[in-house]
Amino acid sequence: FMADKGNYRHFMAKEIHEQAEVVGRTLAHYVNFAGERVELPFDLPFDFKDLNRISISACGTAYLAGLISKYWFERLARIPVEIDVASEFRYREAPLEPGGLALFVSQSGETADTLASLRYATAEKQHTVSVVNVPTSTMARESNVVAQTLAGVEVGVASTKAFTCQLTVLLSLAIAAGRARGTLTAEDEKELVNALIAVPGQMTEAMKREHQIEVLSRELSKAKDVLYLGRGTSYPLAMEGALKLKEISYIHAEGYAAGELKHGPIALIDETMPVIVIAPHDSIFEKTVSNMQEVAARGGRIVLITDERGALETGLDTMATIVMPSVHPIVAPIINAVPIQLLAYHTAVFMGKDVDQPRNLAKSVTVE
Ligand code: AGP
Repeated sequence: FMADKGNYRHFMAKEIHEQAEVVGRTLAHYVNFAGERVELPFDLPFDFKDLNRISISACGTAYLAGLISKYWFERLARIPVEIDVASEFRYREAPLEPGGLALFVSQSGETADTLASLRYATAEKQHTVSVVNVPTSTMARESNVVAQTLAGVEVGVASTKAFTCQLTVLLSLAIAAGRARGTLTAEDEKELVNALIAVPGQMTEAMKREHQIEVLSRELSKAKDVLYLGRGTSYPLAMEGALKLKEISYIHAEGYAAGELKHGPIALIDETMPVIVIAPHDSIFEKTVSNMQEVAARGGRIVLITDERGALETGLDTMATIVMPSVHPIVAPIINAVPIQLLAYHTAVFMGKDVDQPRNLAKSVTVE
């Protein structure tokens, strides 16, 4: 097999740009477009109604997809979700009720810690569901249910299209769980499914911010440290933004829950450290705005990723505001993944780094 970069300079650029297509393809497997409902392409050996909780484990970007889905499962299906990085889960001897659901997320399906967690869950008599991109992988073989992402081969070490496809599958599962548990009405499901159906088009729209982001990345490349902030599902996305940037540009970056700012990281704010705030206009928007005001009052330079309404309502001076299309708040993290990926990519390219093959990193970590 020989992967092809097409007209792109790097696999990562190609994979970022492919997302509307592969998310659409993944969606077509999980959603009945005409029926406006989720239809899972497999049978589940359990009923969501009978679950007391879901335990999720994964590593890196796949873990952050899992963390976003915690918000979805809890909000839409009212199931408590416990989530851990797999390297912790595998050793902490978590008590698991037999017949519970253990969920794993992995692009490769070969990550050593995630596989070990899957084996632990199997030994503890859990139903195991793995969201994987490689259907022939070890994790796919050893799981009760394979929830495949149809991202196609991902070559860039920095995961991009696998992440947004994982989110697509996880949101479909959360909607299915909400229906089974009676926490979503047929009307609610329609609304959510239509929000999902709109995602590929909105991702294409989001790509149109690329030139602005490329210009901005020149500024970012001068930074020694970058702080990413967000609330709700934008919080795991802030961590994903920081992970992407540090992986390929080697700039130190941290992702924080915006509400944690005053519990420590605010001490770092000065004119030299860019603060990237992810704040779509949702129910907690005002809370994030007040955190931004705290940053601005200390001379911090803000890059705001928001939507049309958010941009109108902040009334703050920012270093840059990236205005995303207005989308249903539930799918916002899928769309907002695009600008954070582009920002990391262009910063690293501008700095002359090897974005597809960053130093010290392997595409899949098959040894502990
Ligand atoms: C993402 O950009 C990373 N390279 C890394 O965190 C990755 O997501 C992690 O190693 C998990 O890999 P997997 O999805 O193949 O299990």
